[in-house]
Amino acid sequence: MNYMGNANWWNNRFQSRSLNLMKHEKTLEEDIQFFQGRKTILDIASGDGRNAIYLAKLGFEIEAIDFSFEALKRLNYFANRENLKIKTELMDISKDDIIKLTKKYDAIIINHYRLPQKLYVDLINFLNIEGILWVNGFSELPKDNPNIRESDILYDEDFKDLNPNNFIDKKEYEINNNRFIRYIWKK
Ligand SMILES: C[S@@+](CC[C@H](N)C(=O)[O-])C[C@H]1O[C@@H](n2cnc3c(N)ncnc32)[C@H](O)[C@@H]1O
Repeated sequence: MNYMGNANWWNNRFQSRSLNLMKHEKTLEEDIQFFQGRKTILDIASGDGRNAIYLAKLGFEIEAIDFSFEALKRLNYFANRENLKIKTELMDISKDDIIKLTKKYDAIIINHYRLPQKLYVDLINFLNIEGILWVNGFSELPKDNPNIRESDILYDEDFKDLNPNNFIDKKEYEINNNRFIRYIWKK
């Protein structure tokens, strides 16, 4: 059982969940001022859409990608239930599928998925000028979730290929004795 397991593992996980959407990420809500004046947002490794739906309800145009068919099926169900339009695409982001993206966005969010380091630079190419990249995840192994492995932890070095002039903000924080980190970069 791996936190960042393969698509089958995630499909089983999403299939076994009840038809309730988890609450959106609190840090995203706290950061919402960074998204002001922006319109289009891509949610990478969106899962079943708790953050995509939160942002769509605020009026942003959201696209969501994930490699779990079951996650996107649930996302579409929740979006329809709320009368929201969210475009979804099945994509394995670890296999350089990122180059299949066809347009640019005002913001890209990645919540609790560690992108292979070399892909951050590619991802910046899919931001409009002044667009932001928002990344949030564990900064230390949590004590209460054995699914999460060392390879899932975010480090400053993950972003070493990005232009330091484009760095906007980093926030380290703690919830229930677990340590998290959130980065914001700009194009
Ligand atoms: C911990 S969940 C986070 C989901 C969502 N971002 C959230 O905050 O609720 C990790 C997500 O990453 C997706 N994922 C893992 N590896 C992936 C890959 N290689 N390509 C695309 N999605 C992937 C999983 O299917 C799962 O939905």
